[in-house]
Amino acid sequence: MQSFSDWEQELKNWQKSSSNKIIGKNAIFLSEIGSTNKFLKENSQLKHGTLIIARQQNQGKGQKDRTWISNPGGLYMSVKLDIQPSQFFQPFWLTALFSLGLCDALIQLRLSPTIKWPNDVLVNNKKIAGILTETVLSQNSITAIIGLGCNVNNSLEEIFRTFPDLSTKISSIKLEIGTKSTINFKDILEPTIMYVESQMKGTEILPIPKIKEKWLKFCQIENKEVEIQKTDSQKTYTGYVTKVSDSGSLLIRLQSGLIEEFTAGEIKIKR
Ligand code: BTN
Repeated sequence: MQSFSDWEQELKNWQKSSSNKIIGKNAIFLSEIGSTNKFLKENSQLKHGTLIIARQQNQGKGQKDRTWISNPGGLYMSVKLDIQPSQFFQPFWLTALFSLGLCDALIQLRLSPTIKWPNDVLVNNKKIAGILTETVLSQNSITAIIGLGCNVNNSLEEIFRTFPDLSTKISSIKLEIGTKSTINFKDILEPTIMYVESQMKGTEILPIPKIKEKWLKFCQIENKEVEIQKTDSQKTYTGYVTKVSDSGSLLIRLQSGLIEEFTAGEIKIKR
């Protein structure tokens, strides 16, 4: 396993050579932290575009307050973006933006990624990354913190030993490429951030229709029959996705014929 100083040097080298203009110009690389999202929330003085990357997290947070296991070898990063309050703002499309950037990076690594609504990036139907976008509202500003966790070179063996079922559900870039070599973080960070920056100009409005069009190609969810379990209840619903709304929610025609809107939940595509 790479030492902290080698890990840090690799990231500093990437930062120096990076052509990205906003994200990562100010970057902090940490050996260990609770959560990179939490760090950004607690350090509100940090400027627009600040990037935090931790070698490991001891309180990594996933969606629905789940734990995000963050052992060395994975990529654990958060980005702070200041959003102008006047603009139409949907956190969902920021999540989508980073998912799509990561998909670009994975394609360059010759993988075939897909996106699982709302925030998972999969390769060969196994989750390799997840995104958690959180917002901090103050009187006249909105701060978005986009946290991305990706299994890269980190070993999943211990997780598989404890939860054998997960070996068919989660994976890492290294496992999916099937290589013994270490994947360079630069190959993930550079394309991901390059795509994100190509879609945002300063703190101006995101081109949501364009992002949505690309996102739908990776997600392939419209007109599919799905089973969805609401986050706040154990109830499972079955129906056809008629549309992904402009706020990223799913409109599902249930078996009863009624169309219901889902803003969160665990989804399974039936066909
Ligand atoms: C998910 O549940 O799929 C989202 C996982 C997001 C994990 C990342 S790792 C970096 C950042 N810091 C955190 O505590 N969480 C996010």
